Amino acid sequence: MRHLLSTKDLSRDEAVHVLDVTEDMAATQLREVKKLPTLRGKTVVNLFFEDSTRTRISFEAAAKRLSADVISFAAKGSSVSKGESLQDTAQTLEAIGADVIVLRHPASGAPAVLAESGWIAASVLNAGDGTHEHPTQALLDAFTLRRRIHGDGSRGRGLDGVRVLVVGDILHSRVARSNLWLLTTLGAEVTLVGPPTLMPFGIGDWPATVSYDLDAAIAEVRPDAIMMLRVQRERMSDAFFPSAREYSTLWGLSATRFAALPETCVVMHPGPMNRGFEIASVAADSPRSTVLEQVTAGVSTRMAALYLTATGAGA
Ligand code: CP
Repeated sequence: MRHLLSTKDLSRDEAVHVLDVTEDMAATQLREVKKLPTLRGKTVVNLFFEDSTRTRISFEAAAKRLSADVISFAAKGSSVSKGESLQDTAQTLEAIGADVIVLRHPASGAPAVLAESGWIAASVLNAGDGTHEHPTQALLDAFTLRRRIHGDGSRGRGLDGVRVLVVGDILHSRVARSNLWLLTTLGAEVTLVGPPTLMPFGIGDWPATVSYDLDAAIAEVRPDAIMMLRVQRERMSDAFFPSAREYSTLWGLSATRFAALPETCVVMHPGPMNRGFEIASVAADSPRSTVLEQVTAGVSTRMAALYLTATGAGA
């Protein structure tokens, strides 16, 4: 695997292999010697044109745990503000020695352009591009869910027949898209729930059931997992429609809705969360919440992604 741009590109065997390598990486993190020599001599550049806490820091931790040198680049405060292009920025970073570029960018497709343009020879990992994809987020979500469902017997398995509700601002969510492609490739049944105004055009062609009624979806689907999404107000124009109160009342995971979920249903959120808005604290902090497990899995997942792309191993 040279680049990681999308989960839509992954076959089931490839996806299961990435999850199994993530299991290997997670196992090393439980042992005393946490640092592996795998990427010694390689340089990983985190090239972030949008804000991030989890993705940027866990890519940095992952690269360091594989013994790579890490350069963190934020567009704010760089020559990007003087008009430098993505091509010139990436070529500058490669001239400094980048072997891998981890790119977060507001434009959908920017990582694919960087990977396929021939501007650079480095591997490119998509750390979130516009509303398009966030593949390592979906991989860490699938890893977390597979562990919750199959435990120590996870290796080699998909998520066949697992029922997942993905709830909220589907329109702007790259997390929803990457999860939809990956979860269905792994055999899960996905229902997308949210306001009609926050559903993308053409959603009827996606491999998912669509619902606008969260209470009905919970009752009908009896989900094994519910994944709440952040409402991305920064990607909306001034009118936030529906209103915050309407959104929270109809599509938020309130304490009442949390109580209506099956007792075994796992509660997921990619973060950052808007507590009390799309998710109540009683749900976010419950033992059934995987929010912090997802963050921990992010390091092992990104170790696997860096290893597979930087060394060209497997998958
Ligand atoms: N889930 C996620 O991408 O979080 P950050 O924006 O903090 O990286």
